[in-house]
Amino acid sequence: MTKFLIETKGLIKQFKDFVPVRNLDLQVKKGEVYGFLGPNGAGKTTTIRMLLGLIKPTAGEVYIFGKPLAQNRIEILKKVGSMVESPSYYGHLTGFENLEVTGKLLGLEPGEIDRVLEIVRLTEWKDKQVRKYSLGMKQRLGIAQALLGRPELLILDEPTNGLDPAGIHEIRDLIISLPRQMNMTVLVSSHILSEIELVADRVGIIHMGKLLFQGGLQELRERSKARLRIDAQPLLEAGNYLLHEGYHVEKEETSLYIDAAAANAAKVNRKLVENGYEVSHISEDKKSLEDIFLRLTEEAKSL
Ligand SMILES: Nc1ncnc2c1ncn2[C@@H]1O[C@H](COP(=O)(O)OP(=O)(O)OP(=O)(O)O)[C@@H](O)[C@H]1O
Ligand SMILES: [Mg+2]
Repeated sequence: MTKFLIETKGLIKQFKDFVPVRNLDLQVKKGEVYGFLGPNGAGKTTTIRMLLGLIKPTAGEVYIFGKPLAQNRIEILKKVGSMVESPSYYGHLTGFENLEVTGKLLGLEPGEIDRVLEIVRLTEWKDKQVRKYSLGMKQRLGIAQALLGRPELLILDEPTNGLDPAGIHEIRDLIISLPRQMNMTVLVSSHILSEIELVADRVGIIHMGKLLFQGGLQELRERSKARLRIDAQPLLEAGNYLLHEGYHVEKEETSLYIDAAAANAAKVNRKLVENGYEVSHISEDKKSLEDIFLRLTEEAKSL
């Protein structure tokens, strides 16, 4: 048994001489929205396919609901809803009919199709052929399909791909509401941190098949302490002066960076000016989450 709803141990996928997933230890807690983040080609879809038993890991294990997937595939997957990459449909059938096709396999309760159509707000469009749907509507239908049969775990691979800002917003609100309304755990992948930031309780950042970070967003933010950026003349002497004053000083291009919070800016400024340095700029240099994400993935690239 494991205390996680999804846990992978040393998960590896190798295609011939290429290894898109390297030793992944994912840990998703029950009832959370877990953001699975990584740039294009990072290995997100490959990992998700292994979580859904669509492809076999080369090595390592997947545990879902505390049980090994390899030995309990059917029992586990009955309780998992998913949408991987772009969903595919029968264009000549209506939205309702498409869900009926999937539903037949699941043996649904009456009213279930209307229920999921309502959740993704497609009720009005349910009798229209899917080939007349917009991209956003197709995406929503894919989510409706994933929600059929009230799964305990929902896995969505880039559900906002190709959507306009309004569509992204809508899907985001939907994802946030699911754990509360339906007692569901959600794993959602994306290559855009700002999209995940608003929905996820915790994130896993994957790059070149490796997990670079796993934890809360707050923890990720704390990885980048605030610094003060100072432009002063003469630069090197000002840097030496600050060093003598006990600050940790770094020089990047034409600025100095010291480990100090914005609250100290006035004090630092005064000290510099009083000692004959000319200060032309002083500001807080707080990294946005996006910067942290980029930095993490850039660093990994250069290893
Ligand atoms: N069947 C396969 N055979 C060989 N290589 C593959 C196969 N499937 C995926 N890959 C490679 O594995 C790497 C990871 O792909 P994957 O689709 O998992 O990335 P991703 O993180 O989902 O990217 P994206 O954000 O573009 O969807 C890519 O370089 C891809 O070309
Ligand atoms: Mg993908």
